[in-house]
Amino acid sequence: MILIIDFGSQYNQLIARRVREHQVYCQIEPPNIDIRRIKALKPEGIILSGGPASIYEKGSPKADKRIFDLGIPVLGICYGLQFMVDALGGKVIGAEKREYGFAELMIRSSAGIFSGVHKRTRCWMSHGDTIGVLPKGFRTTASTPNTKIAAAENASRKSYGLQFHPEVVHTPEGKKMIENFLFRICGCRKSWTMESFARDAVAEIRSQVGRGKVILGLSGGVDSSVAAVLLHQAIGRQLRCVFVDNGVLREGEAEKVQDVFRRHFRMNLRFVRARKIFLSRLKGVEDPEKKRKIIGRTFIEVFEREARRIKDVKFLAQGTLYPDVIESRSVFGGPSAVIKSHHNVGGLPKKMRLTLVEPLKHLFKDEVRLLGKELGMSDEQVWRQPFPGPGLAIRIIGEVTEKRLAILRKADVILMDEIRSANLYRKLWQSFAVLLPIKSVGIMGDQRTYENILSIRAVTSDDAMTADWARLPHELLGRISNRIINEVRGVNRVVYDISSKPPSTIEWE
Ligand code: XMP
Repeated sequence: MILIIDFGSQYNQLIARRVREHQVYCQIEPPNIDIRRIKALKPEGIILSGGPASIYEKGSPKADKRIFDLGIPVLGICYGLQFMVDALGGKVIGAEKREYGFAELMIRSSAGIFSGVHKRTRCWMSHGDTIGVLPKGFRTTASTPNTKIAAAENASRKSYGLQFHPEVVHTPEGKKMIENFLFRICGCRKSWTMESFARDAVAEIRSQVGRGKVILGLSGGVDSSVAAVLLHQAIGRQLRCVFVDNGVLREGEAEKVQDVFRRHFRMNLRFVRARKIFLSRLKGVEDPEKKRKIIGRTFIEVFEREARRIKDVKFLAQGTLYPDVIESRSVFGGPSAVIKSHHNVGGLPKKMRLTLVEPLKHLFKDEVRLLGKELGMSDEQVWRQPFPGPGLAIRIIGEVTEKRLAILRKADVILMDEIRSANLYRKLWQSFAVLLPIKSVGIMGDQRTYENILSIRAVTSDDAMTADWARLPHELLGRISNRIINEVRGVNRVVYDISSKPPSTIEWE
């Protein structure tokens, strides 16, 4: 395995993904990780990530300097390189101006990290400080017009440093450099596959839960579904899945979940019909945050009640992913503003005194999909677009009623049908319809109509943190609009949302 020490760079997860793409396992740990723990992890190599701080700034993050004496190869990236230089007796200087963007890299040495890389290649810079004096035993291995020491190494102690970012796509040969570090310098083997992960995870789950019962809130989304299938493979009927029909699901969703998990996978699934209670509590509520809170709270209440019916439950399983784990203990993660209160089951374990089982907590989303395939799930299940916990309630602006739900469901079916036929479902991060609380005048036949407006939202994104509105073909938009207006009673106008995130958000509420 490779240990990545996280100095707070926005790119640290990208480093991890790059390493894993080479089928090498890696783990991201904070700078204050204990040296004994590092030794116990027995990494083949250590990568020091970049970070926003300046090394001489008060409170700048530092790792234990003894990592350089363990005989383990180290690769410092950006701030990671500056930390290495400072720790080993060199000098970092505050830059007069920041360097940000593309730079031409001129490589002096074609060995080690630059083996097989072109002598002149592009790299992505994003730094303020630079290296003034290298520590003893180090030499410069590459420069850019602005940065004399753009890369350095001390090959005999297997220490390497890059001032630029090899992990971003803007450094086209960065992948090769990381590959060189992993295989030429650290001697890693390609052993991280979803097959091996599944085997280990099954063993780990069995040893954690023994004969205990585990409950899991199944939403039908990718993460909870893959977690369920994995757990089911490990402990069979000891796993009790609970699916709550909250009344704001899409058309056919509830039936599909039962079909897949009960009939196909033969899981022990408790299907809870709770439509009435959710919808009665939502009656008359228009405020988005209130809707979200009502649905979140009601879900917990219903789930808890169901859980209590299952005797002797000791564990609660969740499909938590690695990015959540990393972000929740972020080095610099101050309190960020609440934009939307997300509905998830985070509040459950404390209240219910259950021990958490989180078998996906070391995986990224793309790995979860691969794991799902490995476990025999269909493309349709593992490639589902995300669907928010509060469901259609936050896609009906204003009050949620049965009538408005029926309109939105019908439009959603048509939209998804057209998106799938156009082969765009997987290319889009999300595509959905939003029902607006205003009406407009139209004409159908010779009759005046005064009906609802529906907005189509389709976005591309990598991680939902930012998103761009999708440039859907006009013919497709035309077909969607025609079909919705013709087939869905109560809609006489369709508009397309052309806002990106930021400054908008993906969901409207
Ligand atoms: P926004 O609207 O904040 O959404 O740009 C970002 C992503 O999160 C999804 N989303 C949710 N997912 N519970 C969830 O599980 C929620 O309460 C929730 N709200 C938004 C949204 O669909 C998008 O993918």
